[in-house]
Amino acid sequence: MNTHFPRFFAVLLSLFSVSPIVHSADLEAGKAKAAFCLGCHGENGNSKNPQYPSLAGQRANYIEYQLVAFQSGKRTSPVMQGMIAQLDREDMKNIAAYFASLSAESAGADPVVAKQGESKTAMCKGCHGNSAEGRGGFPRLAGQHPEYLKKQLLNFKDRSRTGGPMNGIASSLSEQDIDEISAYLGSL
Ligand code: HEC
Ligand code: HEC
Repeated sequence: MNTHFPRFFAVLLSLFSVSPIVHSADLEAGKAKAAFCLGCHGENGNSKNPQYPSLAGQRANYIEYQLVAFQSGKRTSPVMQGMIAQLDREDMKNIAAYFASLSAESAGADPVVAKQGESKTAMCKGCHGNSAEGRGGFPRLAGQHPEYLKKQLLNFKDRSRTGGPMNGIASSLSEQDIDEISAYLGSL
């Protein structure tokens, strides 16, 4: 019985002393845990390989939400689901804050195709921001690899990725629209 008391008080104490800061993310802890993600997602969070999305400057709450979705299997990716099986919610919050703090670089795109997509992205800005920089829980799209954006839009369209409003929006786009929109967003 007595042996439980110190632990009880330790928990109580930690609740009072730590609670003001548990909700703010720990960037240093996030950086340490993110080290092993950089092989794919890029040394500074800007991926060099179009298969892997850049995470630098991405919205923290969006990143955290996607990690939860991969872990629960709501969003499927054999690669990513294996990568994050061991992370707990605190790790996810810290990692998300770390990537969000890095500066995004533009992946670039074919300027001719990108130009065709410009006017087709007007409807995206209400949620994704005027410069597609992300807003609230809506992800940043600006400067992301066009190949990655295209794959996600096709996944939303065929519903292999569930994404709330994105399933209907992507369904209304033709493959040509998707190519042009992805190029425009990647060029930003
Ligand atoms: C072996 C390569 C690899 C490693 C290592 C890796 N990832 Fe990924 N990651 C991917 C791939 C591939 C995707 C795209 C999955 C898809 O097509 O939906 C992805 C997607 C993501 C996304 C979704 C981004 C978005 O814009 O929706 C997040 C967030 C993410 N990874 C975070 C991480 C974190 C955090 C780590 C380290 C703990 C990590 N990844 C390690 C390959 C990797
Ligand atoms: C009503 C709000 C809304 C509008 C309008 C909207 N989106 Fe989205 N978008 C979202 C939400 C929410 C998500 C996150 C989906 C999820 O994973 O749950 C998202 C995710 C995405 C993603 C995935 C990003 C990533 O990193 O994996 C892409 C690509 C995307 N949207 C493109 C577009 C494009 C292109 C348009 C315009 C043609 C558009 N969206 C319009 C709400 C919106």
